[in-house]
Amino acid sequence: MNNKKQHAGFYGWLERRIGIDQMMHEALDEPIPGGARLAYVFGSGLLFLFLSQVITGLALALYYVPSTDHAHTTVAYISKVVAAGEFLRSLHAYGSSAIIVVLLLHVLQTVFYGSYKGRRELLWISGCVLATLMFAMAFTGYLLPWDQKAYFATAVGTNIVGEVPGIGGKLELLMRGGPALGTLTISRFFVAHVLLIPGMIFAFVALHVFFFRKAGAAGPISAKPRNSGLPTTPFYPGQVIIDMAFALALIAVLSLLAHFFPFPVGPRANPADSTYLPRPEWYYIPVFQWLKYWEGSRAFLGVVLIPAVIVLLFVLLPFLDRGAERRPWRRPIPVGGVVIVLLGLAGLGWASHSQDTKDPSIASQLHRQDEAVVQYMKQPFKPEESGGGATATGEAKESANPMVQAGEKLYQDNLCSACHGVAGKGGIAAPLSGIGSRMSSQQLQTLLTNPTPKMTGGGMPPVPLKDGQLKQLVAYLMSLK
Ligand code: HEC
Repeated sequence: MNNKKQHAGFYGWLERRIGIDQMMHEALDEPIPGGARLAYVFGSGLLFLFLSQVITGLALALYYVPSTDHAHTTVAYISKVVAAGEFLRSLHAYGSSAIIVVLLLHVLQTVFYGSYKGRRELLWISGCVLATLMFAMAFTGYLLPWDQKAYFATAVGTNIVGEVPGIGGKLELLMRGGPALGTLTISRFFVAHVLLIPGMIFAFVALHVFFFRKAGAAGPISAKPRNSGLPTTPFYPGQVIIDMAFALALIAVLSLLAHFFPFPVGPRANPADSTYLPRPEWYYIPVFQWLKYWEGSRAFLGVVLIPAVIVLLFVLLPFLDRGAERRPWRRPIPVGGVVIVLLGLAGLGWASHSQDTKDPSIASQLHRQDEAVVQYMKQPFKPEESGGGATATGEAKESANPMVQAGEKLYQDNLCSACHGVAGKGGIAAPLSGIGSRMSSQQLQTLLTNPTPKMTGGGMPPVPLKDGQLKQLVAYLMSLK
């Protein structure tokens, strides 16, 4: 662009004050050796996804309240009541997975192309920091809905932090804001998730881009770190168009997922539930599985030493792989090392999956947990009273269901308790607790309208209720534990 050209009107007025031409030139004319390529889209794709997370996150924060009393209710409200709330929340939730996927592709591209070479150590390290911050975002965001899955995964996650020798205990206390997960934990995770970590991400993105521009684009794979000989094309329009196409593809995939498979919120966290099997989000599963193999005295080796060495080798890669050579087949150790670690992680993920599906008791518990989420999503929105739901018994959780509550009222109104006792316990006739495990709701419904001779003999009349009410009564009986 010709900077000497004089612009007229408003553009000229601005140009003389802030130098738009120069800025546009700086931003768009970055030379790319060898021209635009699809392989270069991942960095800008990550920036795009991050901005999408900021925007959808902002929308969610308009409704979200970070406390044990309100976190779950407000997330359920977003999902069940707010117009497009479920869609936005799903975009945000799937967006976090998309970031991890694109991050992986970005790292693989950088490693295969050897584009960390040629005075790009700081660029690489700022990227490592950004990757860590992204994982921290995923971890802190996971707790916020305060449903069963969020609660138990974070309980495990913070426990693991507590295992770190020396500072672990203090760190765990700092993260939780006390010995147990509670309102202070939500509050701290919320502050980290919306202020602290995003602020750091913005700063490191700026640094990362600065280092990138300082070193220049590395260009296609070659024997040398700098493609000084190759003809270059400017970043705009070629690469900009490819980057925008990639961003559009990302938003299309996320929108389709969010629309057709809305991301659910499960029943409210119940800390007293001792049967719940925690499972983190898929990208933390390999780590979760890895930790299972290192119990007892070997824990230090597996939990601290091996991961620390791998992370350190990875962060120091540009200092270790110092040769000018960039062709991956000539660099078997760094490229092979990264591939082996990734295959190892995939293997751990697979091991976790096969353990979960092979062991029948685990599989059925996980299935029950999934089913509870499906059932919870089917219920209409109902605000929870403060403190409710987090009580010790499963019954309190069930009574959040309006069908069950209406049924309980019918049970009282029809004097069932006169013979069967309060909540089906301690009456003069058969106890009704546990009836749900003996009969299906269909059988129960038939039985109530056509009592057996034993029931009529004992003085129990056919239940005089019509379809809807009968269903409510049955729902209540099924909920009795
Ligand atoms: C006058 C006493 C009486 C009242 C009132 C009564 N029942 Fe019963 N109910 C019985 C007797 C007796 C049986 C048979 C118990 C047995 O099999 O030992 C029975 C059996 C049942 C069974 C089958 C239990 C089983 O384990 O097979 C169900 C379900 C049931 N009652 C539900 C109700 C409901 C719901 C109400 C209120 C609408 C109600 N009952 C009111 C006396 C009563």
